[in-house]
Amino acid sequence: MKRLTEQQLQRFRKIIYSHFERHGRSLPWRRTTNPYHILVSEIMLQQTQVDRVIPKYDGFIEVFPSARELARAPLSKVLWTWSGLGYNRRAVSLKKCAQEIMRTHKGQIPNTIKELDALPGIGCHTAGAIMAFAFNKPVVFIETNVRSVFLHHFFPKRKKVSDSELEPLIEQALDRQNPRKWYSALMDYGSVLKKEVENPSRRSKHHTKQSRFEGSNRQLRGAILKALIIRRSNTAELQRALNRKKTELNTVLSQLQKEGLICNQEGVFGLPF
Ligand code: ADE
Repeated sequence: MKRLTEQQLQRFRKIIYSHFERHGRSLPWRRTTNPYHILVSEIMLQQTQVDRVIPKYDGFIEVFPSARELARAPLSKVLWTWSGLGYNRRAVSLKKCAQEIMRTHKGQIPNTIKELDALPGIGCHTAGAIMAFAFNKPVVFIETNVRSVFLHHFFPKRKKVSDSELEPLIEQALDRQNPRKWYSALMDYGSVLKKEVENPSRRSKHHTKQSRFEGSNRQLRGAILKALIIRRSNTAELQRALNRKKTELNTVLSQLQKEGLICNQEGVFGLPF
C-alpha cells in the first residue's frame, strides 16, 4: 500500500483547501444538514450533472419536504416532480427508500453505512456521501469527482487504476476534523479538473460511459412517462401523442416495462400503482 508522508499530505490538503476557499461552489444542498434533503440530493447527483440538479432540487424538496410526505405520495406525483432529471428508476427507488425509512427507521435517516447501503437506490458510494455530508462522519468513499482528484494528483501517468488503490490514499488524506468540508472541497476540485484537463477518471479501471441505451432514449422515456402520468394509453395513442415510430416506441415501452416503471394491461400502458 502506498503510504504518504506527512509532507505529501499537507501539500495535497493545501492545494485542495486553497482552491475551495477561492472557488468553492455554493450549492443548495450544502446549505442544509437535514439528512433527508441530503439523501435526495445525492440520489439526484448519482447520474446527473450538478448544473441540471440545481434547478430541480429545491422544487422536489418543496413538494416532498420529508420522508413522510414522499412515502405517502402517489408514484405519478413523484415521477412528475422528478421529470427532467432522467433515469426515472431513481425516483421509484427514492420513494421506496422513503417508505423503508418510515417503516424500519421511524422516519429518521439511519447514520451507519450498513443501514444506508441496505436502503433501495443507495449503494455504498452514496451511503458514504450521506455519512459525510449529513452526519459529518469521517468515512472513506469514492465518487467520480473524488476519483478524478486522486488519479490526477497521485497517479498522473498510470492507466487502469483500481479503486482499491485509491482507497488507502483517500483514507490517509481525509480531514477527520471536518469530513463535510473536505469532501465538498475534493468534489469542487475534481469538477474543475474534468473541465480543464483530460478527464482523469478515464484512467480509472472503473470508468464507464453512461448506458448507450438509456442515454439515447432518455428523452423518449421521459416523454412516455409524462404521457402515461396524464392518461393510460395504448401504443397507437402514444404514437399519435409523441409522433414517434412504432418500432422505436415498442423497444422503449418493453424496456420500461422490464424495469417495472410501467405496466401493460391488455395493451394499455400505465403506471404501476
Ligand atoms: N456529486 C455527488 N455528490 C455531490 C455533492 N454533494 N456535491 C457535488 N457533486 C456531487
